[in-house]
Amino acid sequence: MSITACGIDFGTSNSTAAIHDGSAARLLPLEDGRPTLPSAVFFNLDEDSMAYGRAALNEYLEGFEGRLMRSMKSLLGSGLMDAGTDVGGRHLAFRDLIGGFIAEIRRRAEMQTQSRFDSVVVGRPVRFVDDDAAADQLAEDTLAQIVRKLGFRDVSFQFEPIAAAHAFEQTVARESLVLVVDIGGGTSDFSLVRLSPERRRAADRSADLLGNSGVHIGGTDFDKRLSLACVMPELGMGGLLASGAVLPNTTYFQLATWHTIHLAYHRSVLAGLQDMSLDVADPRRFGRLLRVVRERSGHQIAMRAEAAKIELSDTEGCVFDLDMAEAGLAVPIARDAFEASIAAEIARVCEAAQRCLDQAGVPAAAVDTLFFTGGSSAVPALRGALSRQFPDARPVEGDLYGSVGCGLAVVARQRYG
Ligand SMILES: Nc1ncnc2c1ncn2[C@@H]1O[C@H](COP(=O)(O)OP(=O)(O)OP(=O)(O)O)[C@@H](O)[C@H]1O
Ligand SMILES: [Mg+2]
Repeated sequence: MSITACGIDFGTSNSTAAIHDGSAARLLPLEDGRPTLPSAVFFNLDEDSMAYGRAALNEYLEGFEGRLMRSMKSLLGSGLMDAGTDVGGRHLAFRDLIGGFIAEIRRRAEMQTQSRFDSVVVGRPVRFVDDDAAADQLAEDTLAQIVRKLGFRDVSFQFEPIAAAHAFEQTVARESLVLVVDIGGGTSDFSLVRLSPERRRAADRSADLLGNSGVHIGGTDFDKRLSLACVMPELGMGGLLASGAVLPNTTYFQLATWHTIHLAYHRSVLAGLQDMSLDVADPRRFGRLLRVVRERSGHQIAMRAEAAKIELSDTEGCVFDLDMAEAGLAVPIARDAFEASIAAEIARVCEAAQRCLDQAGVPAAAVDTLFFTGGSSAVPALRGALSRQFPDARPVEGDLYGSVGCGLAVVARQRYG
């Protein structure tokens, strides 16, 4: 019998698709045999073509003329969602951008399985939007509309950390109270769940789901903080105008934030900066900003910020190559400086974890296991802070990129057969 239901984890940074064949869930290869498809689209204007995933990132880095889009999920629930952007003289609505990307995931998944999926369980963060239930619901509704428009008959959602719990439960040998910690590219999500091999078979699991919480902080925010603290000052951020006023920082924030980089490429921005350049106290640094905006190398900087962040998970220091701003420019970055730049974010992630426990009325000491998933759970300062918050819990690391997708396939099997 062919499988007609799948799980799709549309991630801020990486996406996966998975199916359950009756005995186990498995991720489907989406690009070059690998289960993750980076959530990136490149509109190649030189060749009038589109590329997805690693291919999109590569074409951008190879220097093709065109437009790279990443962190599309962050548009959901943001004020930008109903806008779009002009690409090569054509208007691109963000709904179509996200729809096109998810359609590509489906196409690749169906090719792998030689089947057609009518039903899908899509992951969603516990909070698309912090502290605004209506906007949060609107983000889910928008995503549901986008996915339905692709022709799926059944579309439903599951919280990403609950999905990850289902995946982890396939491996647990005895009952345990687990705090799922899913720190991704866009959000940090927590679920407190009671897992056991016996309970796995129960039809109604509501009594085992003790709490959920989430906050809109993830790895892309760490990239942004690192960039604002260590990179943008090299392009003049924080500098002065001749009048003594501090330079406006709008363009710096746009360049440091994945899903707003395209705003810095608007023609009026360069013109405004050129006017301002006559008036800055440090023309050398400001000149670097002009060059970055003129040459549209914002994504390259963001990519290097992400790479530096990842390197700093394993080393005490790294060197940030800023040659796109000025030939030979290289900036050393110490892990301490990065950690200081994200201290407030880490505190907010820990608060979100605490909210999950408060909701359940469970003390931290009762948690047996911390199940880490999501790429950003590898940040040592974050893991350290959470481990201190739950000193008695055993840390377990899941498949950082695959647990959510696999769990969504488990849920799809339960819901749609
Ligand atoms: N070794 C590492 N150290 C620090 N960060 C890392 C490491 N490896 C990956 N990351 C970060 O993990 C993030 C991607 O994780 P993941 O693929 O789990 O996110 P996602 O599922 O796409 O996002 P979300 O679930 O929030 O929508 C990126 O920000 C990436 O830079
Ligand atoms: Mg994720």
